[in-house]
Amino acid sequence: MEKYAIVGGTPLTGQVEIGGAKNAALAILAAAVMTDDPVTIENVPDVRDTRVLMQAMESIGIKIEHIDRHTVKMDSSKVSDCVIDDEYMKKIRASYYMIGALLGKYKRAEVPLPGGCNIGIRAIDQHLKGFRALGAEVRIEHGSIVATATDLRGNHIFMDKVSVGATINVMMAASMAAGKTIIENAAKEPHVVDLANFLNSMGANIKGAGTDVIRIKGVEKLHGSNYAIIPDQIEAGTFMMAAAATKGDVVVKNVIPKHLECITAKLQEIGCLVEEYDDAVRIKCDKTLANTQVKTLPYPGFPTDMQPQMTVLLGTAQGTSIVTESIFDNRFKYVDELARMGANIKVEGNTAIISGVDKYSGASITAPDLRAGAALVIAALVADGESVVDDITYIERGYEDFDQKLAGLGANIVRVASERELKMSRLKLVE
Ligand code: EPZ
Repeated sequence: MEKYAIVGGTPLTGQVEIGGAKNAALAILAAAVMTDDPVTIENVPDVRDTRVLMQAMESIGIKIEHIDRHTVKMDSSKVSDCVIDDEYMKKIRASYYMIGALLGKYKRAEVPLPGGCNIGIRAIDQHLKGFRALGAEVRIEHGSIVATATDLRGNHIFMDKVSVGATINVMMAASMAAGKTIIENAAKEPHVVDLANFLNSMGANIKGAGTDVIRIKGVEKLHGSNYAIIPDQIEAGTFMMAAAATKGDVVVKNVIPKHLECITAKLQEIGCLVEEYDDAVRIKCDKTLANTQVKTLPYPGFPTDMQPQMTVLLGTAQGTSIVTESIFDNRFKYVDELARMGANIKVEGNTAIISGVDKYSGASITAPDLRAGAALVIAALVADGESVVDDITYIERGYEDFDQKLAGLGANIVRVASERELKMSRLKLVE
């Protein structure tokens, strides 16, 4: 099994280029099925989640041509089936975006219940409620969601909970429903806006994405488009945290600084210098950081996907910090691993009480999920001595060339695929 071997202690310096947003890409790739015309999508991150989704799409007859590593041309004119196989979909939660897309276009979809990162209970009731409000019949049968409709009709839908996935799914289906749909209490994340922009570029009529009321006038047909995905807010935030934790000086390029404001504000509050440019941010940090309190919230609040990285950073800050997770109910599993590196963190319910320690010490640790895995890598970059991070397949679901980008900033990190390679890497890392 692949691992990262890391020798910590080197401040990260230099420049790093951020890729396309994984979570926007998953929605946009799925939405491309909604037209028979060719669609070209640029800035698609080459990560496991996007690869699995594209394989699943190919399995129902969608032709995908890889123009280059980050550009795909999709032809969905010959969809053979609206049934997605379990094999792909157990692997990624975003499988369920195929329901909104297929239901909107073909008025039927059968998609296995989603898999993905295990970060707590992840209900789908708001998705189903939205589809039903649009006139679909939705059943759970043999582990799959089966949605069918004779016609979809627009409706006024109030989401009981702010949900990125439900907002995206309902927005897709409603784009091709007859009449007007209003989604109240909608999610406002940058990737919700990116999907709306993509659908509009295909001829949809969506207004208000990025606010909590989205208004959609259904259209009969969508047409082809050429679209570039926004930069990844969470990948950028992860490199910002890595720069701060290692007391480095890094320019994070190809970002939308507005999307990073809540992360920037917290870093500044605890003593980092953050400079914003048009499409880059520079993070410089050369002193022990101050403590703070952080609560994860829907956008524009502090993202749950940055919570583990922030906790790792505060683990070596002065005094006591408090991190409260308000989105998912099981997102502190990595704290046990961090404790093995010398962190002093107590978790009570959805709150982590962090007593800052002077430093972490290298250890063998296992990534429990995508973002926690990235956070443990940051801890290893700070730690004294060598760490081995196992189960990096989670990390590779959402970070492209994570080890290479970190190595480009001076980190002592190598990806190894066997015990033999691990032994060899030890020699290389301590050189
Ligand atoms: C998206 O997940 C992201 N995934 C997650 O990214 C991210 O952590 C999350 O949004 C929150 O920002 C993708 O975009 C593919 P939600 P999603 O629906 O859509 C509850 C990453 O690391 N809820 O906004 O599944 C739910 O239980 C990840 O890249 C309901 O109660 O999240 C949770 O408590 C992992 N009923 C909260 O809402 C529903 O029908 C937010 O979930 C749906 C959700």
